[in-house]
This record gives sequence, C-alpha cells and structure tokens, in this order.
Amino acid sequence: MHFTSLLTASLLAINSSARPIADPIEMIRQAGPEAGKVITKCSAPGQIALAYDDGPYQYTQKLVDTLTAGGAKGTFFVTGTLYGCIYGQKAALQAAYAAGHQIASHSWSHPQNFGSLSTADLTSQMTRLETALVNIIGKKPTYMRPPYLATGGSVLSTMKTLGYRVITNDIDAGDWNNKSPQQSQQEFTRAGASGNGHIPLMHETYAGTVNTLTPWLINWAKTNNLKLVTVAECLGDPDGAYVNGTGNSQSSC
Ligand SMILES: *[C@@H]1O[C@H](CO)[C@@H](O)[C@H](O)[C@H]1NC(C)=O
Ligand SMILES: [Zn+2]
Repeated sequence: MHFTSLLTASLLAINSSARPIADPIEMIRQAGPEAGKVITKCSAPGQIALAYDDGPYQYTQKLVDTLTAGGAKGTFFVTGTLYGCIYGQKAALQAAYAAGHQIASHSWSHPQNFGSLSTADLTSQMTRLETALVNIIGKKPTYMRPPYLATGGSVLSTMKTLGYRVITNDIDAGDWNNKSPQQSQQEFTRAGASGNGHIPLMHETYAGTVNTLTPWLINWAKTNNLKLVTVAECLGDPDGAYVNGTGNSQSSC
C-alpha cells in the first residue's frame, strides 16, 4: 500500500468513527433521559415522584411547606397564566426551587388544543414560560408535561427539538375529575408500592390534593419505604432538571 493510500485509509477510518463535535450543553442534556419521548414512570423501584400540575396558585407555598416538612421532594409542572399570572407567585416558586423541589413546564397558557398546535405555536408556548422561569428562578426547565397529556400532532417532535423530556403519568389521582382525596388514595393503594416508582398526575390547584392527599401520600410512601424524589431524580438525572437560559425584564403576564 502506498503511503498516500495508507493515509487516505486511516483518515477514512478516523472519519467513520468520528462524530460531529457536540455542543457541550447538548452533551449535558443527553446525559439524562431522551428528549421528545414519553416517560410514564420512574426508572427504578423504591421511590415515588409526587408531581403537581397547573400551578402556581394560591396553595403553592403551602404545598412547598408540606413537602419540605415531610422530607419529600415534589415536582411542579407550572404554567404562565392558567391560574393567574406566574409572576404573582414568584416568591412561592423561588421557595420551591430553593428547597430542592423541581420546577418544570406545563406550557405558557395551557391551551385546550395543545396536541394540534403548530410547531411554531408549541415553541412559543414553551419559550414564553422559559423566559418567565429564567426571570423567576434563574434557570429554564428541561422537563415538561403536556396540558391534557396531549402527546400527538407535533408535540413530541417539537419537544425533541427544544430538548424537553416529556412526562405523563402512571397513576391518575383524578382530582381534576371530582375524585375526593379518599378516592385518589385508593388509586395509589390499588397500584401498590412495588415496581418502578410512580409518577402520578395530580393538581396543586385543589385544596384536597394539597391539604389531604399530599400528607397521606407522604405517610404512605414512608410506610412503604419509598423515597420521595423529584421526577428528574427518579429518572437518574438529579442534575439535569434545568439548563441556563435567557431572561428579560418582564414581571407581568
Ligand atoms: C450557567 O450559568 C452559570 C451562572 O451564570 C454559570 O456559572 C455556568 O457556567 C453556566 N453553565 C453553562 C453550561 O453555560
Ligand atoms: Zn394541566
């Protein structure tokens, strides 16, 4: 083999095994669960990720205090405007973040047709909330739960592009559907504590969920030796819940 063809051959060999040089931020993101793929439960047993949608609202601070006092970490899938403007609960969100609870996205305005929005509208729903969260907690989230758990249309491809891990649920507390805390409790009892950890669908906008179901769940988890962790933690991604982002000077919706 001539030197030149040897050189060509080795360059080809290097080339075929080489990958495009990755953006370091992308590499950090890739360390956790894959973006744009629906995740319904934790990746290991022995834990539970209490997850609450639709806030922030008037019970956010109470929920933060209850979880923290119970030695629990929760996950808050928040919107920009569903139950009032997100900036109105700035202090409660900052307290949640500071206490180690996870702040994640549930879109800006929780549109009923989330699953049929265009890529441009989905992107705007996500980036508007990102900007607000950078303004409030200094970070943008990498986890989201789609409003109405809508994962059709352009939702997953858009979330993949934006780097979002898509979380749904494996238990439905049914609080959104007039189930009492006692009826919700039965859902957990029925599902049991074995197997990979649950990621329930719950809403911090119901007094019963905050005041009755949550204390019961903290106790239920302890009785069953389940660690109460964030969604990111239960997916083996404790440091991947956020990335840096760009805020602005906005402080109202
Ligand atoms: C994110 O921002 C913090 C604070 O400004 C900085 O220290 C850190 O290096 C940034 N991380 C990345 C990955 O850019
Ligand atoms: Zn919702």
